[in-house]
Amino acid sequence: MTGAAAEAATVRREFARIHGRSPDGVWAAPGRVNLIGEHTDYNDGFALPMALPQTTVLAARRRADGLLRLHSAQGDGAITELAVADLVPGAVAGWARYPAGVVWALRDRGLPVGGADVHLDSTVPTGAGLSSSAALECALAVAYDELYGLRLSRPELARVAQYAENAFAGVPCGVMDQMASVCCAEGAALHLDSRTLEVRQVPFDLTGHGLRLLVLDTGVAHDLADGAYAALRGGCERAAALLGLAALRDLAEAELPGALAGLPDGLAPLVRHVVTENARVGRAVAALAAGEPEALGPLLTAGHASLRDDYRVSCPETDLAVAAAVAAGALGARMTGGGFGGSVIALVPAAAAGSVARAVTDAFAAAGFAAPAVLEAVPSPGARRLG
Ligand code: GLA
Repeated sequence: MTGAAAEAATVRREFARIHGRSPDGVWAAPGRVNLIGEHTDYNDGFALPMALPQTTVLAARRRADGLLRLHSAQGDGAITELAVADLVPGAVAGWARYPAGVVWALRDRGLPVGGADVHLDSTVPTGAGLSSSAALECALAVAYDELYGLRLSRPELARVAQYAENAFAGVPCGVMDQMASVCCAEGAALHLDSRTLEVRQVPFDLTGHGLRLLVLDTGVAHDLADGAYAALRGGCERAAALLGLAALRDLAEAELPGALAGLPDGLAPLVRHVVTENARVGRAVAALAAGEPEALGPLLTAGHASLRDDYRVSCPETDLAVAAAVAAGALGARMTGGGFGGSVIALVPAAAAGSVARAVTDAFAAAGFAAPAVLEAVPSPGARRLG
């Protein structure tokens, strides 16, 4: 049995033990890393995420009585039982707010969905900036799409999941994580246009080029619900309004010097980051299309400097991980995700993977930081039915 088939069998068996009958199906949705294009999605801009092998696997069966009964292998053992008709934003706490939020969001859009029994199990680390909440939402969304015959498109499912996170869980995120979780394909990075939700699969062959992509989880938990993310988003919207633009995506790199001159000091660095970051996405896609993935390295490191110095969402741990990885032979490294902690990605020659991971671990020990967890990112499939 492959890894996915074995996971599906375990989750199916656990579902039967917990809910006392067999599920209608088993679905999976992955976490992600973003290669480049950070804090661009809510500016209608571009990003280049890829799905991780780590997934949320979810078994579900329709119920006719309007109850949503949720159980998680990572929970406290109890079943969270909710009446679908009574779901309201803010009323559900903890991990259950993500799947419950998706059911609420579907109903809020007027779609005819009712209850279900659910059991889920996730290998996506939480609080690591790897989109564990998007994986949870998207696994539930693809399951409900089939259970209730909704036939929503992948971008529609991503919008529903994002709406659940924004309006039900109260996290003002953009759409990148959910688009990555539902649209990514094995062996590829996803070139995402956050305005139109158009996507292009860009082949990303690490192994064929003797490369590996390490994920260094700093263990510093980030929390997008706190005010910092919302404040940055608000700053970008104010800057776009001052510039007379629908969104910062509409400012070209060549127009940047003129635009910056007319902006208040607090907003100019935000605009510089977003505009240069969108340009870096374009360059990264061109490098991959030209069959030169190693050329991503300097773009990653430049992206980190921009997040550190202009957008100011890095922290001592992510800065140290980037510096130590690059000093030890990584072609480039940067924080990935919203920031304020979370994970760093490092593009490394395969032969240097061990020494780069060791160098970062040693640097953390020397600085008195807890040891980072090291994962490997392999471009993996998006949300799908497993059985
Ligand atoms: C978080 C949000 C995304 C995106 C990133 C930053 O992951 O959920 O929508 O804004 O931060 O690129």
